[in-house]
Amino acid sequence: MITLSNIQVTFETASQSVTAVQDVSLHVDAGDVYGIVGYSGAGKSTLVRVINLLQRPTAGSVKVSGQDLLALQPKELRLARKKIGMIFQHFNLMNSRTIYDNVDYPLKSSKLPKRERDQKVRQLLELVGLSDKLDAYPSQLSGGQKQRVAIARALANDPEILLCDEATSALDPKTTLSILELLKKLNQTLGLTIVIITHEMQVVKEICNKVAVMEAGQIIEQGDIVSIFSRPQTTLARDFINTATHIEQTLEKLTLHPSLVHLKDNDMLCKISISAIAQVTGDF
Ligand SMILES: Nc1ncnc2c1ncn2[C@@H]1O[C@H](COP(=O)(O)OP(=O)(O)OP(=O)(O)O)[C@@H](O)[C@H]1O
Ligand SMILES: [Mg+2]
Repeated sequence: MITLSNIQVTFETASQSVTAVQDVSLHVDAGDVYGIVGYSGAGKSTLVRVINLLQRPTAGSVKVSGQDLLALQPKELRLARKKIGMIFQHFNLMNSRTIYDNVDYPLKSSKLPKRERDQKVRQLLELVGLSDKLDAYPSQLSGGQKQRVAIARALANDPEILLCDEATSALDPKTTLSILELLKKLNQTLGLTIVIITHEMQVVKEICNKVAVMEAGQIIEQGDIVSIFSRPQTTLARDFINTATHIEQTLEKLTLHPSLVHLKDNDMLCKISISAIAQVTGDF
């Protein structure tokens, strides 16, 4: 669905040149919820902006749904971009327009008749649970509700892919969970492929099936969630996983317990890792 090959992005500023992304290759399959984690400045946003060519790479190729985006004419690129929605940390809503108008806005260039357009806006707001807020303004909504509007707007042109740049970073943990639940629902019911940038491994743990860890412009580790969580290869991946599981802190506390500090000759202290994959099959 998305194949980035040997992507490089170098920014030339007056005083220096900064390579934000360096020789990155990444493949996202249709239906994936793909997490990209890394500390600030790692190059996550720059890399994800390459997927819809908001950021043109200095080198490399960008294939989305079988199309080589860098080879498209401006008009074809505009069409291809409609199939890629995007949401951001600070929602980027138009504050002087109602919730209805915010969601309707991307449909302005569509050829939908007025009635169908109206129906579409209402359906989208229902999908994100905001049918009662059509006439409200963004300033009258909570952060979580604003992000729901942004999601509805991003879905207006029936995208196949949704890019999320720190979409839950401005939200409290409970609201974060509710937005992640919504994204999960969209992935499962609409088959939406999701790429989600975050610095919280908890978010990855909650909804991603694959993850890439970025550091200094490069992907230093990538794979399916079970492999990365059970056998991280890099210190950075291990650090991130620790923040989600708190396992190291727990182990540290446990091993300080008197009964474990003073082991007898035949006692043994073991650390066992179990990785389990839950698979749900059958009808309910
Ligand atoms: N337009 C630009 N001009 C110059 N340098 C840039 C530009 N955009 C990004 N950079 C630099 O590229 C590097 C990667 O930035 P990027 O925003 O992709 O990181 P990030 O991983 O998304 O960070 P954060 O978690 O803080 O959002 C940084 O060193 C940044 O300063
Ligand atoms: Mg960023």
